[in-house]
This record gives sequence, C-alpha cells and structure tokens, in this order.
Amino acid sequence: MDNRTPLIAGNWKMHKTSPEAVETAKALVKLVADTTDVDIMIAPVFTALDPVSTVVKNSRVGLGGQNLHWEKEGAFTGEISAAMLVSAGCQYVIIGHSERRQFFGETDETVNKRIKAAIEAKLIPVFCVGETEAERDADQTLSVLDKQVKKGLEGHSEGNLSSLVIAYEPVWAIGTGKTATKEQAQEAHQYIRSLVETDFGDALSNTVRILYGGSVKPDNVTELMQMPDIDGALVGGASLDAESFSRIVKFK
Ligand code: PGA
Repeated sequence: MDNRTPLIAGNWKMHKTSPEAVETAKALVKLVADTTDVDIMIAPVFTALDPVSTVVKNSRVGLGGQNLHWEKEGAFTGEISAAMLVSAGCQYVIIGHSERRQFFGETDETVNKRIKAAIEAKLIPVFCVGETEAERDADQTLSVLDKQVKKGLEGHSEGNLSSLVIAYEPVWAIGTGKTATKEQAQEAHQYIRSLVETDFGDALSNTVRILYGGSVKPDNVTELMQMPDIDGALVGGASLDAESFSRIVKFK
C-alpha cells in the first residue's frame, strides 16, 4: 500500500451512553498506547463526543462524528455543523454511510455538500460508498461506485481533497457477518482509486486512503489489509468492544 498510513476507524453507530463510551474509550487508549504507523479513530454518538474527547486527548486515538450538516448554523432541527464537531474535539467525520443513505434520505448531492463543509472546517471526511446486494447481483457494482464517487466529489479540486478518506462498504456486508472476499474488496478499491486518478490525477490517487468496511473482525482484517489497495478498515460491530477493536488496530 505504498506510503499510505493505515487508518482503522470504529463507527459506534447508535450505541453507548456517554459513561459507556468513556469507559470503552479509556480501555482502548490503554490497549493501543504502544501502536505506531497506524491511525486510529472512533466515532461515538454526538452526545458522547465531548467527554470522550477528554479521554482520547494526547493518545493514539482520534475522534470523529458520524455525520454533519453543510450549513454553519440555523433552523435544522436534529443536525450538527462542522464547527460544532470541531469544538467537541473531532478531527474526522463519517459522511454518506449507507445507513444514512438507506434510512435517512441521504443522496449523492447531500453527501457532496457535507464533504465540502467538512473540508472547509479542516475535518477529515470519511466518505462512504458501496453497492447493495441487488446491485451486485445485477453486475452493477462498478457503475454504482462510479456514480457515487463522481457525484460525491463533483466540483472539488485535487488540492482541497488531500485529506480525503474513502470507505468502500458493500451494503450486503454491513452487520451481516458476510465479508467481501479480499479479491472482491481489492477489485472495488482498485476501481475507486482509478476513478480518483481519472478525475483528480496521480498524486491524489496514490495518497488517498481507501478503507474497507463490512463485517471486519480481528480474524479477517489481516488478509484484507494484505491487498495492495486496502488502506484500513471502517469497523462497526467489532469496534464496540475495546479488546476486539484493538486487535483489529494491531492487524499486522
Ligand atoms: P459492521 O459495520 O462492521 O458492523 O459490518 C461497518 C459499518 O457500517 O461501518
């Protein structure tokens, strides 16, 4: 994977109250204290960000939001802005997760605006793409990725995407225990990297980190990470437990 530093990210979804999140974060900070050459991020629920930020400060663990709104402030009940995430201690934000797309009406257009807002606020966007099972069965995987990546990044320039992280998460593999094979994942990652190269050039396509997500566990992470275009993992279920997540972080 060339010189790309792997990123292992934990998406805690709608799990853990603040005290529970703090407890898990404390355990994780200890378990990964001796790691090097890997970036680590956890994304707890919004209400836990501030207390967890105190726990992870000056540790190996970074902090991320699970979503953000593109406006700076205003009458947008239930939403949160980039500046609010930054002030709660975040360096990262997950954007366009398939659960947002499936259950909350997220579209490629809104994903595009959220990525812009994240970059303006100097948050690292973790931009999620991936096909459903029906789309894979209909042989549409690459065309779905093509549309999601192009529309999500439309109007951006190479210069402002330097921190971009993309997460390939086949919807059929999320929370199902069905992981993509390392060959299926590699094919998708290589294709996504080629899309970045076409639209933004070599330099960005060589440095952009592409994570795999979908039932990543301690016992399958190592073989996935051996693939040349897999630069890390976005982990749901197995990130909720500090011990299992730390084993994924230490995939080598
Ligand atoms: P999972 O979730 O690891 O539980 O499959 C991954 C994700 O949704 O980011």
